[in-house]
Amino acid sequence: MKTIRLSNGVEMPALGFGTYQITDLALCERSVLAAIDAGYRMIDTAQVYGNEEAVGAALKKTPVPRQELFVVTKVRFHSYEPDRCRASVLESMKKLGVDYLDLLLLHWPFANYYAAWRELERFYQEGVVRAIGVSNFHADRLVDLINYNDMAPHVNQIEAHLFCQQRVTREWMDKYRVAAMAYAPLGQARRQEMYALPQVLGPAEKYGKTPAQVMLRFLIQSGFAPIPKSVHPERVQENFQVWDFSLTGAEMEALRGLDTGVAMIGNPENPTRAEASLHWK
Ligand SMILES: NC(=O)c1ccc[n+]([C@@H]2O[C@H](COP(=O)([O-])OP(=O)(O)OC[C@H]3O[C@@H](n4cnc5c(N)ncnc54)[C@H](OP(=O)(O)O)[C@@H]3O)[C@@H](O)[C@H]2O)c1
Repeated sequence: MKTIRLSNGVEMPALGFGTYQITDLALCERSVLAAIDAGYRMIDTAQVYGNEEAVGAALKKTPVPRQELFVVTKVRFHSYEPDRCRASVLESMKKLGVDYLDLLLLHWPFANYYAAWRELERFYQEGVVRAIGVSNFHADRLVDLINYNDMAPHVNQIEAHLFCQQRVTREWMDKYRVAAMAYAPLGQARRQEMYALPQVLGPAEKYGKTPAQVMLRFLIQSGFAPIPKSVHPERVQENFQVWDFSLTGAEMEALRGLDTGVAMIGNPENPTRAEASLHWK
């Protein structure tokens, strides 16, 4: 499995499995097992997904040893306050059935995320987590967080797909050696036209690959670790079969040209989004 070396030397798989919106716990467990069986070693969940226990059940059942897996979860921002953060992380670990996490992220830059970041730093110093990071942080918040704390995040998990390539944020992440994980790498299936674009279909036909595989390969060659989600075993496998071809410079350039620079899902700078966060559960 190809990996991305984090700034602390930890090797993070360059492709992972996402579990957002898999709220049927039996289906989540089956899907995670199918993913591990297909070769995925990184599993992404979050407190708000409500499926950490199902992920934990799959981790318990798989014959793949814990140390070969890379388990990622995220702290919900309702738990950022100092009196809640630590307990919520320990609760996540209990649900996941793990005695350490490979990567622990702050889910959004809302609420008291400075307090929560300092708690993550403590978890890291205690050796409870191998790496810490953030999610949905655009460059301004990321740089400020780095400036006023001891540690820089090892990873920023951000929305990234053909229509939202995050170039500005990536430039700042590169400057501070923050690795990039791409969520919604297939655009969360919201934009079906992505699958029919000539820039995607051309390489798909040339290499005998599917549009989804071309999209994931594009992100991997752009330095992201994408974490596609699927509840269909054949798609779970399809999304992992991206190691036997390479996009050329010209093909990459054509795909880069599809960027709109606009996030569909994860824009924390949108005041309506920030306002709505009060009511998220
Ligand atoms: N940090 C954050 O705020 C945040 C936000 C969103 C997501 N995430 C993480 O990122 C992961 C991935 O993002 P996502 O789940 O939102 O979206 P995604 O992976 O871009 O897309 C998932 C959708 O695409 C479909 N799909 C999967 N493989 C396909 C294929 N080969 N061909 C056609 N359709 C396919 C899935 O349907 P089926 O399941 O029916 O196959 C599902 O509807 C999440 O699961 C979660 O772990 C993080």
